[in-house]
Amino acid sequence: MKLLIKNALIINADASIEADILCENGLIIKIENNLATEGIDETIDASGCYVFPGGIDPHVHMHLPSHAGYSADDFLSGSKAALMGGTTTLIDFVTPKKGQSLTDALVERKKEAANSLIDYSFHVSPIEWRDTTEQEIKDCIKEGITSFKIYMAYKKAIGIENDIISKVMKVVGESGGLVTAHCELGDEIEVLRENFAKEGKLSPEFHPLSRPANLEAEAVKEFIEMGREANCPVYVVHVSTKESLNHIYKAQQQKQKVFAETCPQYLLLDDNKYQGDFSQTAPYIMSPPLRKEADNKAIWKAITDETIQTIGTDHCPFTLQQKQFGKDDFRKIPNGASGVEHRLSLLYTYGVLQNKITLNQFVNSTSTQAAKIFGLYPKKGVIQVGSDADLVIWNPKKKNMISAKTHHMNCDSDIYEGIQTIGEAKYVFSKGEIVAEEGKLIAENSGSFLRRKKYSYQ
Ligand code: URP
Ligand code: ZN
Repeated sequence: MKLLIKNALIINADASIEADILCENGLIIKIENNLATEGIDETIDASGCYVFPGGIDPHVHMHLPSHAGYSADDFLSGSKAALMGGTTTLIDFVTPKKGQSLTDALVERKKEAANSLIDYSFHVSPIEWRDTTEQEIKDCIKEGITSFKIYMAYKKAIGIENDIISKVMKVVGESGGLVTAHCELGDEIEVLRENFAKEGKLSPEFHPLSRPANLEAEAVKEFIEMGREANCPVYVVHVSTKESLNHIYKAQQQKQKVFAETCPQYLLLDDNKYQGDFSQTAPYIMSPPLRKEADNKAIWKAITDETIQTIGTDHCPFTLQQKQFGKDDFRKIPNGASGVEHRLSLLYTYGVLQNKITLNQFVNSTSTQAAKIFGLYPKKGVIQVGSDADLVIWNPKKKNMISAKTHHMNCDSDIYEGIQTIGEAKYVFSKGEIVAEEGKLIAENSGSFLRRKKYSYQ
């Protein structure tokens, strides 16, 4: 299949150029002006549009088990929503059960992801230290899993103590991988939650109060310190607060390998969303919780000055019925919200069009940096000869209003309900095949598991 995109204004992280793009067998094979149309199977004129490398969302939770059932999107519905929004690669998670090996859990998770419409990989989560954990980590790296995620929160379930985190970091660092972390101090949060419960304070508004910003920032500080001691590259997921940024910035200034991710909800929404009745507030129950407007501002700034490298979504939707599990106790509300579909349109509208970030920074933070940090570059994350033809032709003028009634995510609420966006993915290509066109799903080809390279950030 030969695909030709004419008159493309190509936006890469480092430069923007006008040219035609020729793709064959899933790869970009030529980027030149005035390429001939003879012998081409499909020609698309991209005049008036931008062409971006397909988005990479480094933080999604499809089909995540919880006490309220699985998160509402599986890999099929979630990947569909992702690609409709211009994301062509997902990095999800492998979370073993207690006593299960990381490698067995990886095999199981690959089966669950087999119906993904776009390419995918996983971060693997050690949730305990067993005699075999060191070897399991090394085996995962051989399988092309080069990043691991630990949880400092959720101590009763999957969170681990700092001595185990240090052991994980030592092996991962020595083996050429990277450790990512959900940074919130789990024990201190548990005390706050129990105190609220004793006082009968069980409505959703107490969720954010039980997870204050300083407990995120303190966890970030500890995580970075452990990374330095273990000489392991580290990545802080879903940074939500200004205080965390100070620790990240300081470590980066000292040339420690520290990366940071945020999500659109921590840029665009704040804790006013926790005022209201259960069905209004429960969709916003996520961890970390939404913060203050001052935090939103600090996080925008951190994207511009590149303290934060990537923007993921932490896509983890639960329906209102599932959220009802915590109707009488906020501690039982399943944590998480949808977002994978809106990442590009929100960042384009509220970042690029409001002059907070440039088009090149938009591409950098939604695609290129994730590819570089997680060992996918230059296969993904850039429009250049030899890369996968994962491309988004972006109509910069199309206006939309976000609504659960029209989104493609399998969730009956949308935390961005009513928000206006400008710009949408007009055509989306995964490995040279059209997967979405003018809001219609075309995808037939299934995604593939991506074996990633070891950490080698340049
Ligand atoms: O509330 C959230 N973020 N749920 C998903 C699991 C996690 O903590 O990343
Ligand atoms: Zn998390």
